Amino acid sequence: MRGVPAAGAGAARAHRVLRSNDPCWCGSGRKYKRCHKASDGRVLPGRVSPMLAVPDGIPATDYYLTGEPRHLDEPMVKSPDVIERMRVAGRVAAEVLAVTGAAVAPGVTTDELDRIAHQAYVERGAFPSTLNYHGYPKSICTSVNEVICHGIPDDRPLEDGDIVNVDVTAYVGGVHGDCNATFCVGEVDAASRALVEVTRQCRDLGIAAVRPGRPLSDIGKAIEAHATAHGYGVVRMFVGHGIGRQFHIPPSVPHYYDPEAATVMEPGMTFTIEPMISAGTWREKMWDNGWTAVTADGRRSAQFEHTLVVTDTGAEVLTPEPPAR
Ligand code: MF3
Ligand code: CO
Ligand code: CO
Repeated sequence: MRGVPAAGAGAARAHRVLRSNDPCWCGSGRKYKRCHKASDGRVLPGRVSPMLAVPDGIPATDYYLTGEPRHLDEPMVKSPDVIERMRVAGRVAAEVLAVTGAAVAPGVTTDELDRIAHQAYVERGAFPSTLNYHGYPKSICTSVNEVICHGIPDDRPLEDGDIVNVDVTAYVGGVHGDCNATFCVGEVDAASRALVEVTRQCRDLGIAAVRPGRPLSDIGKAIEAHATAHGYGVVRMFVGHGIGRQFHIPPSVPHYYDPEAATVMEPGMTFTIEPMISAGTWREKMWDNGWTAVTADGRRSAQFEHTLVVTDTGAEVLTPEPPAR
């Protein structure tokens, strides 16, 4: 094994929803109702376990040891060979997402989801792209309720009624595949379910707007129209991105209408579409951990992501949802 050994202790934990008078899960020694339950319904940062190790046989990203990606000169339009390898990486990412999403349930911690995802990458010979990416400590992102993106898996148990986005990026065959989905935890209120479904539709309308010869701004135009028709906000701070041998490269793909997104789509271009849609404001604020973005008004936010390649007539999704099994 390479890197920090996995912390073996505490792997098995009862999946039980805490009651008010139980000791808080965060280890403060206070009653749950006086501690995290008193957070006015907001998600609070929990404890982050040590970075998991990846077996030596799995080729690592070039930044895994240093935390800083090396810059390669990489065209926006990929070769057929790179595209074929991205189909494989994309399929792996989509499988890891499905496996992890199937484990979402009340009482399961996001750290447990990270562990499940980590094992699923490794079983498929893939390296988790996020591990030590600019110092990011985990193998996936898990973004609960008002967390917009880049939630770091921790020891907070999912609660009945939460929504949680799981974002998976797999590095295999020298390329990355990036996708995410938002899952409902137990019984979720109708307004949150609508937010999740409309956000999925926004992603799919963005993909449907992909057309060679058209500017990238068509994508955000389609997404923003649908989101605002439902009274939702489109997050502006985070955008879709080019992807290939490197994780985040040009072009930027805004999910709102931005006339400056004038790059003309061409067959062979690969990028993500990953709208973050909020029930209220599009404005975000950052947690002190330097990674996690939450809505400025505390209302919920959902996200869905695919990696795709522009074709002669539209788009091919490289991270398709695997057939149910
Ligand atoms: N997967 C995210 C994206 O869609 C990026 C996560 S980077 C991390 O672009 F470092 F926060 F993990
Ligand atoms: Co992405
Ligand atoms: Co992603």
